[in-house]
Amino acid sequence: MDKIIIHGGRPLTGTVEVSGAKNAALPLMAATLLTPGWHTLHNVPDLRDTRTMLRVLETLGAVWQRQGGTVRIDTSGLTGAEAPYELVKTMRASVLVLGPLLGRCGYARVSLPGGCAIGARPINYHLRGFGSLGVTTTLARGYVEARAGSRLRGATIYFDKPSVTGTENVLMAAVTAEGTTVIKNAAREPEVGNLVDMLIGMGAEIEGRDSDRLVVHGVDSLVPAEATIIPDRIETGTYLIAVGATGGRVTITGCMPSHLPSLTEKLHAAGVTVEQEDNAFTVSCPQRSGRSECPLVSVDITTLPYPGFPTDLQAQFMALMVLGNGVSIIHETIFENRFMHVAELQRMGADITIDGASAIVRGVSRDRLCGAPVMATDLRASASLVIAGLAASGETEISRIYHLERGYEKMVEKLRRLGADIRRVRE
Ligand code: EPU
Repeated sequence: MDKIIIHGGRPLTGTVEVSGAKNAALPLMAATLLTPGWHTLHNVPDLRDTRTMLRVLETLGAVWQRQGGTVRIDTSGLTGAEAPYELVKTMRASVLVLGPLLGRCGYARVSLPGGCAIGARPINYHLRGFGSLGVTTTLARGYVEARAGSRLRGATIYFDKPSVTGTENVLMAAVTAEGTTVIKNAAREPEVGNLVDMLIGMGAEIEGRDSDRLVVHGVDSLVPAEATIIPDRIETGTYLIAVGATGGRVTITGCMPSHLPSLTEKLHAAGVTVEQEDNAFTVSCPQRSGRSECPLVSVDITTLPYPGFPTDLQAQFMALMVLGNGVSIIHETIFENRFMHVAELQRMGADITIDGASAIVRGVSRDRLCGAPVMATDLRASASLVIAGLAASGETEISRIYHLERGYEKMVEKLRRLGADIRRVRE
């Protein structure tokens, strides 16, 4: 297993280009199952998770080719409708094949994902949504078996909480259902909008893009898609926060600043300068050697569905607040166990107390944040440790970096080009 070694304390400078969004690529890849033919997706990041999704599609009988960021997928010869445990356990987003398989074949068998490092993460909303569309689901030997007697029929579906993959799954099942489906309290994340655009390009009739009420008028048939994955807002946010922590000046290109409204507000409040253009951010911050000199202001955050502060940036923002000049309260409302990074940050000298769903972060001066051997526990926790390592003095060694590779394309290379002393070594 590989690990990452960082010698911290260097400011980041230069330009970094953002990759396509993992959480948009996965549903768009799954949506190719909806109709036979060659589909073309551009700007697909080459990540462990996107490779896993290609394996899931292969298992179902699809074939694919990749050339740079463009992936072509042919779903003409489907041979099965089952996503096995071996794949779903490594990536729970594999459940996204349920909706399109139901739409196309009226049948799907997908392993139930089980819990994960950040919380229980049930899929009851997905299943309830399918049930409203006329699908019967049964659970046997850890697999969800979903079957529709006839063509799915439109219905009104209300989500208790906005669910990103729940909205995407039900949306994909509904596009070829008979009649109209209304999804109320739908997730409004930009990744859902990316999927809506792809589906419309395939011939679907959907109203309410970017709103919490999606109206889908079922169509009889669809055509293969050509779509482009949106830039990864979480990767963008991770680099913005990293510069806040290390100091320096970095231009982030190929991104969508409008997709990060809450983060940019919080960075401004923390004293980090963020300038935005149509497709780029320039973030700058003086390097801080002591607490008295140009302090980083401690600010509170609460994670919320979009456009609120993303839970996928909570761990990274906490690494920044570790260096704040006061106390920051970080309230996590989306996942019940998303503080696994706290114990690792504490090993580096951070002063953090957990109180239920809140973390109380008392800022320490940069000279108290010291490199240490730490362990990555999930994708975003890993990114938080990288940020802390870049800002800390001395050497940080991060093990279990396969988590990082699930969602950040070429992160080590990108950070090296920005002047970080970071490398990947074999354990
Ligand atoms: N929920 C339920 N039942 C369901 C579905 C969701 O109770 O059937 C609850 C969840 O437990 C959670 C809330 O609803 O409390 C929202 O979860 P959501 O369904 O939106 O999460 P998800 O769709 O499983 C996606 C991202 C996550 C991201 C969350 C929240 C993908 C592939 N994954 O997960 O990304 O944290 O939305 O924004 O889109 C990551 O990239 O690191 C990651 C975990």
